[in-house]
Amino acid sequence: MAKRKTVAEIMAMKAAGAKITMLTAYDASMASLLAGCGVDALLVGDSLGMVVLGYDSTVPVTMDEMIHHAAAVRRGAPGAFIIGDMPFGSYQGSPRDAIVNGTRFLKEAGCDAVKLEGGLEVCTTVAAMVAAGISVMGHIGLTPQTASQLGGYKVQGRDLVSARKMAAAAKELQQAGVFGLVLECVPDQLARIISEDLFIPTIGIGAGVHCDGQVLVTHDLLGMFEKFVPSFVKTYTSLSPLIKENVTRYAEEVRKGSFPDAAHSFTSQVDLDELLAPK
Ligand code: KIV
Repeated sequence: MAKRKTVAEIMAMKAAGAKITMLTAYDASMASLLAGCGVDALLVGDSLGMVVLGYDSTVPVTMDEMIHHAAAVRRGAPGAFIIGDMPFGSYQGSPRDAIVNGTRFLKEAGCDAVKLEGGLEVCTTVAAMVAAGISVMGHIGLTPQTASQLGGYKVQGRDLVSARKMAAAAKELQQAGVFGLVLECVPDQLARIISEDLFIPTIGIGAGVHCDGQVLVTHDLLGMFEKFVPSFVKTYTSLSPLIKENVTRYAEEVRKGSFPDAAHSFTSQVDLDELLAPK
């Protein structure tokens, strides 16, 4: 098993020019598979709400749901660097709320760090969490928890004013102590400028190739989530048709009695005549 990375090692990858690979995980078996592929960090994203729990957005996701899934990811990947995503309402109220909930990710789920969304408005909270010993990753650009305030799930920072605002927020978050920064749905050249301006690594999702690392929702990469696939997602394979085909075959075989066959059944060790004979 590979040695679990530290925050310092993740940060050092930027200086070394090594791209950081990150994927979402929500359960033990997938976490184990992803960690076995050498992915640098697993994010227990609040995308859990849409991908696994069937909500229409990430807003309804609760702390208890996140802890339940993050703990499963830790059990499946004991050697992975795991980041727990702070759900909507778990950090916006006060720095104290953020410290209490961030601490839960570390103590109850065994996460190495947490991630939260927002720019200048979360800097005081980030600084308080870092001072309390919680490693925090930032997330700017398209922030799904507040997508309705941003006019929906769209690319951010396309005009000069919003681009400048985003670049300034990135610097302030770095100053507040984040060890890395997710840039979601950001034009690639703006992501390049932000990445070059920071000593902390940027992790892009729909933010082009110049980020210091990349993250995708694993269900999107594997073609397992059919409701909506953003245009920036590369679907490396389409598991949905494979799953449907094979589950349909299983159901057919059960119905017609060809499964289970002898190869998938146990033979008895007892003398059946004796078993059937009246006692
Ligand atoms: O919740 C999530 O999966 C995320 C990533 C898409 C960055 O925040």
